[in-house]
Amino acid sequence: MVLHKLSTKCSKSRILVLLVISVIILFLTYDARDKSALTVVSTDVIEPRPGHSALLHASKEATPSDVHIYADKQAPQKPAVIQVPEKPVDKQAPQKPTVSQTPERFAMFDRQMVVRSANLMKVKEVDCKALFADSRIDIEKAKTITRDVGLPALNETHYINLTSNCKQFQTERGYIMSSLTKEEEEFPLAFSMLVFKEPEMVERLLRAIYRPQNYYCIHVDQKATEHFYKTMQALTKCFPNVIIATRRIDVQWGWFTVLEPELLCMEELWRFPRWKYFFTLTGQEFPLKTNHELVKILTAYDGANDLEGTIKRANFDRWRSPAPFGIRPIKGSVHITVNRDFVNYILHNNTAKVLLEWVKRDTSFPDETFFATLNHNPQLGIRGTYKGEPETDEEKKPFLTRFKNWGHLPCASGNYVRAICILSLGDLPQLGQAKQYFANKFYLSEDRAVIGCLEEKIFNDTRDEYLGLKTFDVSYYASLDFVKNKV
Ligand SMILES: *[C@@H]1O[C@H](CO)[C@@H](O)[C@H](O)[C@H]1NC(C)=O
Ligand SMILES: *[C@@H]1O[C@H](CO)[C@@H](O)[C@H](O)[C@H]1NC(C)=O
Ligand SMILES: *[C@@H]1O[C@H](CO)[C@@H](O)[C@H](O)[C@H]1NC(C)=O
Ligand SMILES: *[C@@H]1O[C@H](CO)[C@@H](O)[C@H](O)[C@H]1NC(C)=O
Repeated sequence: MVLHKLSTKCSKSRILVLLVISVIILFLTYDARDKSALTVVSTDVIEPRPGHSALLHASKEATPSDVHIYADKQAPQKPAVIQVPEKPVDKQAPQKPTVSQTPERFAMFDRQMVVRSANLMKVKEVDCKALFADSRIDIEKAKTITRDVGLPALNETHYINLTSNCKQFQTERGYIMSSLTKEEEEFPLAFSMLVFKEPEMVERLLRAIYRPQNYYCIHVDQKATEHFYKTMQALTKCFPNVIIATRRIDVQWGWFTVLEPELLCMEELWRFPRWKYFFTLTGQEFPLKTNHELVKILTAYDGANDLEGTIKRANFDRWRSPAPFGIRPIKGSVHITVNRDFVNYILHNNTAKVLLEWVKRDTSFPDETFFATLNHNPQLGIRGTYKGEPETDEEKKPFLTRFKNWGHLPCASGNYVRAICILSLGDLPQLGQAKQYFANKFYLSEDRAVIGCLEEKIFNDTRDEYLGLKTFDVSYYASLDFVKNKV
């Protein structure tokens, strides 16, 4: 009986693999006459695991080479679902659609989507453009109504309800369900998101960075309510590329437990082979750049990592014994932008494992030592790490992974949590100009206008870049010392 079940499972997955292969072959032969138009077939295949089936997913503009294979984690028992592009495939007479037809048609679809999303994000109550331009009158006026901006606030109950119909949820909330450009499609990003409260803030963060080609791992703190966890589960069920970390850690500031969820998410994300860079985020952060801008910056980085580092400002008590292998310990932070090989090294290299044991056992703030140390010891030969002096400073080695105001900049709210300024609408002028990719930290319960306006700008910029109305200059990023002087 057991044997019989096993063999049906086996043959099911074999059928699945055969099915996937035959679809790929179909595409290959269909396009065989013009090989130049079809170079690679995406290999984004997740190893079939028990209880998982595969979903062949193609966005409307997909060409055969764009087709991805995702794990359909929503439907454990469901047979394979195969969605092919809308383009009619006539087996009798394989005709390649003419170049002028196809992109035109799909571009139209995307144009409508980006314009619609930008319209949805428009904040009615305040003039965001004026706030970014530092109009004192508008800022003062906005301060009186910021708590009412974009109401009703959405709580757990709302999200459980909204996500009961995923298609409707994606449309109503204005998610961008296309990679938009070939450049972005070929440069998937991966994110960890450490969250514990404010579901609306988490969902709006996800929406701002969501693209179907990227990957997201959400870790819900053990301390979060069951209702919050269920809400996050419901959210992830609506997107095949958003996963929830199966183990939950009770995160305690200053302990290894800050680092642990990041390592868990790296492990969860590792099985997706396409992504090129990894970011760490929390539920109190928000992007300052569009996906397109991130891809342009990271392409210019050509593998360079962006991590904070210092020896001068490190308190040496935090390291109670010398690090192994003669490695020089460096103080940094848990906010990182790193290439895929850096993550590979952390997950699979023995040196990283021994260093991690040391960090756990003999340092006070493991999360502030581990990543920074790996990035500033070039003798380890990890790709993208920095060969210069490990000192973050504004000019020579800026840290652009996070905008974080430790009191060195004006703080509009005057409100600090653990010495970090809580960002609010009065900070919009400096946030609009910032070179950083993400900002920390926001509380939606304190200020709804700041998130509303950042959202409006991100979606406007996405639209304008897509329509060719706005370009993004990466020369500043390309000229950075950590980009030129890397392993
Ligand atoms: C976004 O675009 C709309 C036009 O669609 C414009 O009215 C608005 O001011 C723009 N917002 C920002 C922050 O640029
Ligand atoms: C969410 O808000 C609604 C009212 O808008 C309320 O009925 C519901 O109990 C709230 N749910 C939670 C979990 O707070
Ligand atoms: C969700 O909310 C809408 C209106 O707010 C209501 O009509 C609908 O019945 C709710 N759905 C579920 C599944 O609770
Ligand atoms: C692990 O890292 C060390 C030092 O960076 C390197 O010499 C070694 O080749 C790496 N091991 C593997 C298996 O890649």
